[in-house]
Amino acid sequence: MRITCVVDDAVLRSSPFWGEHGVTFLIETEAQRALFDTGQSGTVLLHNLELLDVEPATIDALAISHAHYDHTGGLSALLEHVRPGTPLYANPDLFRERFSRREGKPRRVGLSISEEALAAHLALCLDAAPQEILPGIWTTGEIVERPEPEGSSDYHLMRESDALVADTYRDDMALVLQAGESLVLLCGCCHAGLLNTLAHVERAFELPIAVITGGLHLTSASANELQDTADVLSARPALQRVYPNHCTGEAAFVALTQNLGSHVVRPCPAGTILEF
Ligand SMILES: [Fe+2]
Ligand SMILES: [Fe+2]
Repeated sequence: MRITCVVDDAVLRSSPFWGEHGVTFLIETEAQRALFDTGQSGTVLLHNLELLDVEPATIDALAISHAHYDHTGGLSALLEHVRPGTPLYANPDLFRERFSRREGKPRRVGLSISEEALAAHLALCLDAAPQEILPGIWTTGEIVERPEPEGSSDYHLMRESDALVADTYRDDMALVLQAGESLVLLCGCCHAGLLNTLAHVERAFELPIAVITGGLHLTSASANELQDTADVLSARPALQRVYPNHCTGEAAFVALTQNLGSHVVRPCPAGTILEF
């Protein structure tokens, strides 16, 4: 099993990969390929896929972590290149309108393509329960129980009938890859909260998590919350590596590194390849 970071906010110095705020991962088994999220734009996504010598027509499954533009912006451009009928896995709440309001008018930050337009090209597999997207690769399904802090933002809103209300991020999910007798947790933005996602995966999949990677959305976490997160991760002896990127945040990276030492590896920019 191999995970390649195709798009991230960061690229290495002198790298031919392009970066922008967003994330995409390619997951490859011996026989098949899945793409998790599509970054913010087709321009960057298709450029980086070409550098990796990955023809979009060879992708067997698409999965979307949540609706935000930095995870779905490349979908429209990708549609023209993937095989018709390619399955797309996501939560049914993916198509709800989402907004960000820092000042003035709310700005649309959700999906920029309609469900009908996607369904014309792809096989939509929308389910709040975990779904197996390729052998050994699952969506987490909806992270229902959230007793721990979420990876939220005061600016994020969603449409509820005629009103805009605080986004509950019910569409948020991650991927789980089985690697031997342990799991790899691959996060998109982790709005449901890393600790909530971790507990959900441990309950649902009943194997220890050995690797965590992707956007962990700890940018708004307090120092106490970061310490709690580090303590929970430290208490898991099976956890071998954390490769945070995208929306994790500098303070979180420092806190995790101080507590977990060399178990936390960085950078994980566009072009990074992780083998399991
Ligand atoms: Fe997001
Ligand atoms: Fe994000």
